[in-house]
Amino acid sequence: MTNDPKQRCADVLARILADTYVLYLKTHNFHWNVEGEKFRALHEMFEGQYRDMWDALDELAERVRALGAYAPGTPAKFAALATIEANEEIPSADQMIRELIADHEAMADMLSKAIKSVQEEADEASAGMLADRQTAHEKQVWMMKAMTA
Ligand SMILES: [Fe+2]
Repeated sequence: MTNDPKQRCADVLARILADTYVLYLKTHNFHWNVEGEKFRALHEMFEGQYRDMWDALDELAERVRALGAYAPGTPAKFAALATIEANEEIPSADQMIRELIADHEAMADMLSKAIKSVQEEADEASAGMLADRQTAHEKQVWMMKAMTA
């Protein structure tokens, strides 16, 4: 691990960026390929989710740059850094929801740890950005659970 506090924060942000990218792409894939009687509702819900994550990707990457590091931006780099897993299958609509709930819960958990890491380096700007992301993922968990209640 590097001794440079800014680099440590950039590393934390880069991992969140990679996981956000993998979940962004998974969600856009589900938007395209969801089928069944819940099609309209899920197609639109997934669009709201992927648009939110698309915007967040740019913010996270540019914060990495502001900290003096290069942002990861290739499929290989994202795959190496991310823990959220892509799904090569086309799941049923209900399975898509279950999988995304678990992924957004995992994101919220990772973000909670990431916030503590950057606060240890007194990087409150990154902490605020990550807290906004945690809020967004927790909101999606609520909305998907409400839909399936
Ligand atoms: Fe679309």
